[in-house]
Amino acid sequence: MDPAAPKPKENMGEPLPRVDARLKVTGQAHYPADLPTANLAYGALATSSIAKGRVTKLHLDDARAVPGLLDIVTYGDMDKVEKPKFGNAGATSIGPLHDRTIFHDGQIIALAVAETFEVAEEAAQLIRADYEEEKPSASFDSPGTKTIPAAGKSPLFKEDVKAGDFDAAYAAAAVRIDARYSTPTQHHNPIELFSTTAFWQGDQLIVHEPSQNVTGWKAELARELKIDPANVRIVSPFIGGAFGSKGPMTPRTAIVAVAAKRLGRPVRCVTSRMQAFGTQTYRAETRHRIRIGAGEDGRITAFAHEGWEVTSRPDPYVVGGTSATGRMYDYGSVLTHVSLVQADRNTPGYMRSPPETPYVYALENAMDEMAVALGMDPVEFRRINEPKAEPIGKKPFSSRSLIQCYEQAANAFGWAKRDPKVGAMRDGDWLIGMGCATAIYPTAVAPCAARVRLTSDGDVRVQCGSHEIGTGVRTVAAQMASERLGVSIDKVTVEMGDSSLPPAPVSGGSISTASVCSAVLKACDAVRAKLSAGATAEGGPLAGSHNEELDLDGGKLAARGGASAKIEDVFKAMQIGAIEEYAEFAPKGATPEAVKKLYAGQSEFHGGDQDEDSVKYAFGAEFVEVRINSYTREIRVPRIVGAFAAGRIMNTRTARSQLMGGMIWGIGQALHEATEVDRRYARYVNRDLQDYLVPVNADIRDLQVILVPEVDHAVNPAGVKGLGELGNVGTAAAVASAVYHATGKRIRDLPIRIDQLIA
Ligand code: MOS
Repeated sequence: MDPAAPKPKENMGEPLPRVDARLKVTGQAHYPADLPTANLAYGALATSSIAKGRVTKLHLDDARAVPGLLDIVTYGDMDKVEKPKFGNAGATSIGPLHDRTIFHDGQIIALAVAETFEVAEEAAQLIRADYEEEKPSASFDSPGTKTIPAAGKSPLFKEDVKAGDFDAAYAAAAVRIDARYSTPTQHHNPIELFSTTAFWQGDQLIVHEPSQNVTGWKAELARELKIDPANVRIVSPFIGGAFGSKGPMTPRTAIVAVAAKRLGRPVRCVTSRMQAFGTQTYRAETRHRIRIGAGEDGRITAFAHEGWEVTSRPDPYVVGGTSATGRMYDYGSVLTHVSLVQADRNTPGYMRSPPETPYVYALENAMDEMAVALGMDPVEFRRINEPKAEPIGKKPFSSRSLIQCYEQAANAFGWAKRDPKVGAMRDGDWLIGMGCATAIYPTAVAPCAARVRLTSDGDVRVQCGSHEIGTGVRTVAAQMASERLGVSIDKVTVEMGDSSLPPAPVSGGSISTASVCSAVLKACDAVRAKLSAGATAEGGPLAGSHNEELDLDGGKLAARGGASAKIEDVFKAMQIGAIEEYAEFAPKGATPEAVKKLYAGQSEFHGGDQDEDSVKYAFGAEFVEVRINSYTREIRVPRIVGAFAAGRIMNTRTARSQLMGGMIWGIGQALHEATEVDRRYARYVNRDLQDYLVPVNADIRDLQVILVPEVDHAVNPAGVKGLGELGNVGTAAAVASAVYHATGKRIRDLPIRIDQLIA
């Protein structure tokens, strides 16, 4: 680090309101489908009504007869386009319109383009297909599915692990549990629908689409269309909810781009919520078997976690959360194994927090079951098994404040007042239950670039091709620049969400704040170093002072002896109007190749469990009170307290919002959310927000977020651990534990609904 640079401020950032708050609440923030575009044509998707087989014939005449229809893009029209690629930037290799094979229900079979949205919709609905239909395999236990080991099938999941002798330790354990858990299919359902608007200016293709990865999509779309990536621009200034669903690009984007080219005018396709269930990614259902062995003293000696996940036929999507669960406690011996179950379904994808939410749900339930089996307080049980190093590679944690989280949350919650006896706590007709669980999320960071410009009047412009998916990253980037350059935040503007900006990694894996802030910090320090050098140079206003003794604050450079110079005077002496610096941040361990890959749209994550020196995770502890009506079994969650430690918190307001949102989602996962699959047709049934249940305001009562101070400079220069995906990990398990405490019923299959508590 430049010695002239100020030390990073420790720990808790200001709770500043979002820099784009006013734009958002006044409707001036343009989401991609709102961006003004002249001469628009509208596209609507036609999708398959079967889940497995082949399209033998398409009937287009009725659709073509609708007045105002302009074009239909279908089989034969995409032949010159490369098939999509499953991987980081691509959601699936299923290339609709490349061949007539149907891999899943709701697969795209055509795009109707018309003068109006209504005509496009009508025409799309009139498109009929004849099929050669086969019987689909819908999910776990369906005849015809294929189960394969997940390890090595996909870059997303490296390996199963084995540490110590699980079998022997488990057999010898005084207390054992062996339990199975499951989580249902879930769909993200961001309020902003999925959309693509594409138009060509000569050879240049411009796409307005909500994206968590504009640089990655630029590269992938250019590959599919076989054009120079320099001729593709993805624009996504604001995103109305993403949660992973707007991370990988889906095949729709290329189809709409081809339609726009054929027509010679802009085409916009906004997918209906119903169609999104089949054309976007989602969280597939998972199953788990967990075995834990422990001594009478409560020390765990054996831990095994087996997981099963559903995926599509062609793409080995896997979340593989055993990486985190296998390292959570001081287990003694560890055994993990993850299997993929291939079914006739669309390819799943990232959904906040992809591996941890289902896997930690299973683990933390099992931990509570074990605490009960041992007759031990569940917090005490976790304290006893707190590790000094992670149990697989025996690497230390870069920092781990889990016990502090438990202490602070337990204290705020009033855990000491809990009567541990099942069903012992009551308020009139309501049974009261209290439970807790651990949250964990790996801390990663990726190469990232940023450009910072400081002008003589003290204005700062930050440019970085990251994405404001609602997390507040634009705000924390502004805070970082304001802090490093000593200017007030209202002097800082931040440009994001455009592939023509300096490239940033995918906004996934909770890496954005750490990666973006590290790059902005580096660019600011370069600006500052230039400014200091100009001030102290011969003839400069602070000639004779030492660069490293200068303090930059309030639009002034101050030297140690009391002399100071305004930025504008330094610029005058330097005979320039602005300083602009471009910085590439590379995490520790990243090669120059990794930085090059950033420009090709490939994000290389560093940290988590992959680091050489230490493993890096953020932690939290969540405590939940449930009330269950003793007659109707109606379930309420009157309060949750979560305490989280995630290194430096850039902005306590946006951090709280992320964690609060995560806990609310956790309640949804515990009690509401599930996509029902019709097993006869491998078809999603409840494809709208009327039937796909999520919590509403009335479901959410008292939520308390405690930010536990933690300093960790090993994670990255900004000292930031991610927390976007931390809050909803563990919540559902804490609810399940509280339900057990109230009723004596251990519900191992999500969501927990009234019918499971009756009888
Ligand atoms: Mo997150 S599911 O990595 O957007």
